[in-house]
Amino acid sequence: MKNNLNHNNSQNLPKHIAIIMDGNGRWAKKKFLPRTAGHKAGANALKNLVTECDKIGLKHLTVYAFSTENWKRPEEEVNDLMNLLREYLQNFVNEADRNNIKVNVIGDISKLDIDLQNKILELTELTKNKTGLNLIIALNYGARDEIIRAVKKISNEVLEGKIKANDISEDTFEKFLDTYNIPDPELLIRTSGEQRLSNFLNWQIAYTEFYFTDKLWPDFNIDDLLEAVEIFKTRNRRFGEI
Ligand code: IPE
Ligand code: IPE
Ligand code: MG
Repeated sequence: MKNNLNHNNSQNLPKHIAIIMDGNGRWAKKKFLPRTAGHKAGANALKNLVTECDKIGLKHLTVYAFSTENWKRPEEEVNDLMNLLREYLQNFVNEADRNNIKVNVIGDISKLDIDLQNKILELTELTKNKTGLNLIIALNYGARDEIIRAVKKISNEVLEGKIKANDISEDTFEKFLDTYNIPDPELLIRTSGEQRLSNFLNWQIAYTEFYFTDKLWPDFNIDDLLEAVEIFKTRNRRFGEI
């Protein structure tokens, strides 16, 4: 599919696409390279995709960059991933003047190194008034962790008498999630052939359409995303109706 056919066609795009960027390690292995090389190529693929998504007028793009379970990887790989993240965020800060992309982070960033936390705050502040693509990076993100953190916050509000337990609705609860103010994704893409959620956005994807591709993340580009959107458009979304 040629993406120039689809450019400037934002009215036909979902508002929010979420991606589980998987397969960096296998991409590197196929090329007899260290896993870090795969992560580096993956970061590049993301950079290009983000630029293209902004160009086609996508409103929200959420990407799974590091899960609460990824700490179980060897320390060296975790360090490599954190360093790549540092570079990625710094690059975004440097280029913020030249683009219109807004950056948000979901996940428990309090477990990240303090300089990374500060970089995230700097970048979200710097881009908060941008009107182009809203890039949401899931970092130390786990859906169960997010829900538990929301439950703790809401419990405190109940204890303080700000909310009545009986008044808690889906709408009130959602306000305590990291994704407050972001519409649920209509489409979730996972690369690398795996067909599981791996603790990603469990609450928000109750009615999301799933699209799986065997492509490894570093090979994924805007044409692949637009192909997923074409498939998405053929889905009959019933939301429980007939
Ligand atoms: C995705 O690629 C990146 C992260 C999870 C951080 P993987 O590193 O999981 O790549 P595979 O699954 O081993 O190929
Ligand atoms: C999911 O990929 C997390 C990210 C892409 C950041 P994993 O590679 O960690 O998932 P599992 O372990 O195969 O389920
Ligand atoms: Mg993986």
